[in-house]
Amino acid sequence: MNITQSERDAVYKTIFSRRDVRGEFKPDQIPDDVLMQVLKAAHHAPSVGFMQPWDFIIVKNADTKKKIKDAFALAHAEAADMFEDEKREMYKSFKLEGITEAPIGICVTCDRTRNGPVVIGRTAIPEMDLFSSVCAVQNLWLAARAENLGVGWVSIIHNEALQEILKTPDHIVPVAYLCVGYVSFFHEKPELEKAGWLNRENIESLIHYEHWASKT
Ligand SMILES: Cc1cc2nc3c(=O)[nH]c(=O)nc-3n(C[C@H](O)[C@H](O)[C@H](O)COP(=O)(O)O)c2cc1C
Repeated sequence: MNITQSERDAVYKTIFSRRDVRGEFKPDQIPDDVLMQVLKAAHHAPSVGFMQPWDFIIVKNADTKKKIKDAFALAHAEAADMFEDEKREMYKSFKLEGITEAPIGICVTCDRTRNGPVVIGRTAIPEMDLFSSVCAVQNLWLAARAENLGVGWVSIIHNEALQEILKTPDHIVPVAYLCVGYVSFFHEKPELEKAGWLNRENIESLIHYEHWASKT
């Protein structure tokens, strides 16, 4: 099956206009079929040995969101102390989550025991199962953008807190807590870039030929 030019354009449009959303969530509910489509896209991500180690915990309950927000606040306060002076003030000024505003949260997890102890492709590098769940996150993020849904990844939170709040068994690792919802608008550029925190790296400087030291 060949991808046509207009389909290709749509894929790139989705990739380049995807943003991490924190402050622009609208309360509008996400129709079940749209949510299902986005989860299905996540479920069709590549995974090591076709392990499909992910699960998706959908959070709509306001009390649960409040607990997650409290856990974020703790980790956020710890994080602020790690930055120096000016950067600390800047860090504190950023909005880095939309936990209570987003109509739903989705925790993408990794079941490190799924399909037995020996998995094709996870033999030399054990983290490959976690990477597979991250692939599911990226599929979800892009499918959501194609549905005009915003996604914000909240990583300033301890996994132990998420495990306790979401009552996950010990062998389940939370990989991503995502805030998902319709948005008032998508920023054109990453907010951290706009704020002058960091610039997008020049792609030429990231490409190496044959070995690390060769840039041509
Ligand atoms: C693994 C991962 C964790 C992230 N954690 C957070 C977070 O805790 N809070 C936040 O506001 N953004 C978080 N982000 C979003 C990044 O800041 C964002 O992707 C980056 O600044 C580029 O912006 P863009 O996604 O809008 O292109 C995370 C992104 C990734 C991939």
